Amino acid sequence: MIKITTTLTKTPKEMPPASKLGFGNYFSDHMFLAKFVEGQGWSDSQILPYGPIPMDPAAAVFHYGQALFEGMKAFRQENGQVVFFRPEFNYHRMKEGAERMCLEAPPLDLFMSGLHELVKVDQRWIPQGPNTALYVRPTLIGTEGFLGVRPSKETLFMIILSPVGSYYGEGNKPINIWTEENYIRAAPGGLGAVKAGANYAASLKPAWEAKKNGYAQVLWLNVDQQGIEEAGTMNIFFVFKNEIVTPALNGSILGGGTRDAIIQLLKSKNLPIVERRITMTEVLKGVQSKNLLEAFGTGTAAVISPIGGLHYRNQNLVINEGEWGQLSTDLYKEITSIQSGAMPDQFNWITALK
Ligand code: COI
Repeated sequence: MIKITTTLTKTPKEMPPASKLGFGNYFSDHMFLAKFVEGQGWSDSQILPYGPIPMDPAAAVFHYGQALFEGMKAFRQENGQVVFFRPEFNYHRMKEGAERMCLEAPPLDLFMSGLHELVKVDQRWIPQGPNTALYVRPTLIGTEGFLGVRPSKETLFMIILSPVGSYYGEGNKPINIWTEENYIRAAPGGLGAVKAGANYAASLKPAWEAKKNGYAQVLWLNVDQQGIEEAGTMNIFFVFKNEIVTPALNGSILGGGTRDAIIQLLKSKNLPIVERRITMTEVLKGVQSKNLLEAFGTGTAAVISPIGGLHYRNQNLVINEGEWGQLSTDLYKEITSIQSGAMPDQFNWITALK
């Protein structure tokens, strides 16, 4: 049993209306923190008012980027029950990522106790309404103040909560993406397969440039500039007439929880989902021959986001006339209905708040 000390805020904030949320703009009243020190183990598990945390300016996270995070969602279902979507998936991915980042992963019971207790305290922050959720951000950082380049002997585990609406704004319209050929997100043997903050740092400049040109995300290619990796902060699926393809996890792609859920859903419907290498040449041919019916991105934040347009080498390729396709519509409905409780959870993805 994990002992958590709780200090409640004396100044609870006002919950913004669902229509104003956007993504990641607001934070709940409290946060969860726990500390690991080599030789001493985990201690100081606490829930306290959300706010700044004191840090040594020499902390490893500031200088050498020792940081790893997760993204998960909590919902209030139609019967009032608060649930999490696949928290074990996030725990295991964090544990594997921590190993790569030389951070200490919290034990399972610490992770789950912190998660359940924090959401219990802040459950009024779970927004109601279509396309809304309480986004949960567990994070691990190296906090030891030491400038030699070696793993931090101290890890801070934090969980913060953000009530969110849809990731790409109102309307959930299909997005346009920019195929990136100057920058790459991650190389084989690097950090691409873990949810390291560093991957997102590498993505900021190309994503910002794409945004300035009117593209919501970039399409990341492999080091060979042909193999497709991910679409911005999402995994990607291509729906061809005879098969549905998502890039195989090759060591530089992040294995998303929604990606995995979509693969399970497609398999359960006996649809021909294949995880394999897929190239730009193939996608280009698919658009030209009209063999490519739909493309969509998947992620915890975005859920399913259809790709209506793809810029590649001076061409603006249009996919499914820039509209939501049948498969993306069905999958979106199914996954959000399992989350809201409108459909039974045959895959065991839902965990009720204790
Ligand atoms: C998520 O989908 O949870 C992500 O982590 C994407 C992004 C908000 C960083």
